[in-house]
Amino acid sequence: MSISETSPSNEHHGLQRRQLLATATSLGLSPWLLSACASQSGAAAKVARDSVLRQHTAGQRRTLGSFEVFPVGLGCQWHPGAAQGSVVDMYHSAFDRQAAVRLIRRAVDRGVTLIDTAEVYGPFLSEEIVGEALQGIRDKLVLETKFGMDIDPKTGQRLGGLNSRPEHIKQVVEAQLRRLKTDRIDILIQHRVDPQVPIEDVAGTVKDLVAAGKVLHFGLSEPGVQTIRRAHAVLPLAVIQNEYSMLWRGPEAQVLSLCEELGIGFVCWSPLGMGFLTGSVKADTRFETSPNMDFRSVVPRFAPEALPANMALVDVVKTWAARKSATPAQLALAWLLAQKPWIVPIPGTTNVAHMEENLGAASISFTADELRQLNADVAAVKIRGERLPPAVLQMSGVEAPPKS
Ligand SMILES: NC(=O)c1ccc[n+]([C@@H]2O[C@H](COP(=O)([O-])OP(=O)(O)OC[C@H]3O[C@@H](n4cnc5c(N)ncnc54)[C@H](OP(=O)(O)O)[C@@H]3O)[C@@H](O)[C@H]2O)c1
Repeated sequence: MSISETSPSNEHHGLQRRQLLATATSLGLSPWLLSACASQSGAAAKVARDSVLRQHTAGQRRTLGSFEVFPVGLGCQWHPGAAQGSVVDMYHSAFDRQAAVRLIRRAVDRGVTLIDTAEVYGPFLSEEIVGEALQGIRDKLVLETKFGMDIDPKTGQRLGGLNSRPEHIKQVVEAQLRRLKTDRIDILIQHRVDPQVPIEDVAGTVKDLVAAGKVLHFGLSEPGVQTIRRAHAVLPLAVIQNEYSMLWRGPEAQVLSLCEELGIGFVCWSPLGMGFLTGSVKADTRFETSPNMDFRSVVPRFAPEALPANMALVDVVKTWAARKSATPAQLALAWLLAQKPWIVPIPGTTNVAHMEENLGAASISFTADELRQLNADVAAVKIRGERLPPAVLQMSGVEAPPKS
């Protein structure tokens, strides 16, 4: 049976779950353990997710917090297009709202369990689309969304900068629950460290939301390493969500080993190198600057002077893809999956065929010798140009201010 035919989740179970959480939290039990184990709707959701995993993935699972997920997730980062009703991604692709809803539902039908989005994607639009797509299938998946950018809650206007003040986080989460049409956010991620707010205050606020049953797990995106330790001490982190791919291997320096030490899962954004690793970008590709700006037009590693040298990495991907009877996109995702058993990439796409192709990465494995050789081939390519424009880059690796 297709998941599109299943019935809506039971609101009564959501209420019971909140009551159980409130009771057990007052007894001093771990809220996130409770949210996974003690609640009826949590148990029902687990059964629903397990059935999807069993049906489609022959036992492949990765653990993020209390969740087991299919190894490849789906990134839903969409914005309103210029044409009425159109939805665009950060690059060159466009579709419409109903196609976006169908894409998500198809992904879940095919076994995807981790869906990633954020308040700022749209703003609001991506969460609205995800909320629409999840009706009737909510319990089958793990919903990950983010707060942190300073956005007017009424107008959706981006005010510039970041805002993780506790009152703002609470307000954002209430609005997210409404847009996502759900009673809980499975993984709530701070979408860049706010240099004005101690991480203890942020983690404490999310802890309150966990105790209230509105959030099940906490994560950080692109944090400084000390901030990871400090946040984790207040509320155990389920995930770090950073850029990681063959094109950007920065997390290998410190963050992956810290995740391993602390038992935190790792979700990779832009796992296909913003499409570069699929082979769709050529040495002479020039990215649109208007009216539909392709974000890559302002990213230094895609500049005309950097691209020809960087194409050497695409050659590595294509050579290994042929050797493994895979597509370049599958090879790039399989390489990530092979790095650690707790890594989950969330490729973004507007295309159903691409989404289905990407799931094939979960079936590709490497022998130890193959992985050693592939890692060496990837490491031998020196990438030219920064991974992001300076204004965006400065929001990475930030340490939150100390709590006074
Ligand atoms: N935490 C953060 O700060 C942060 C930042 C950026 C992104 N993210 C998250 O990470 C997700 C993924 O990142 P991303 O979209 O920037 O980059 P990505 O997944 O590396 O690449 C997306 C691009 O690859 C193309 N693509 C996908 N599958 C393909 C395939 N099989 N063959 C050919 N082309 C393919 C897509 O085009 P088509 O539409 O044509 O398939 C799109 O242009 C986002 O959706 C978002 O959820 C988080």
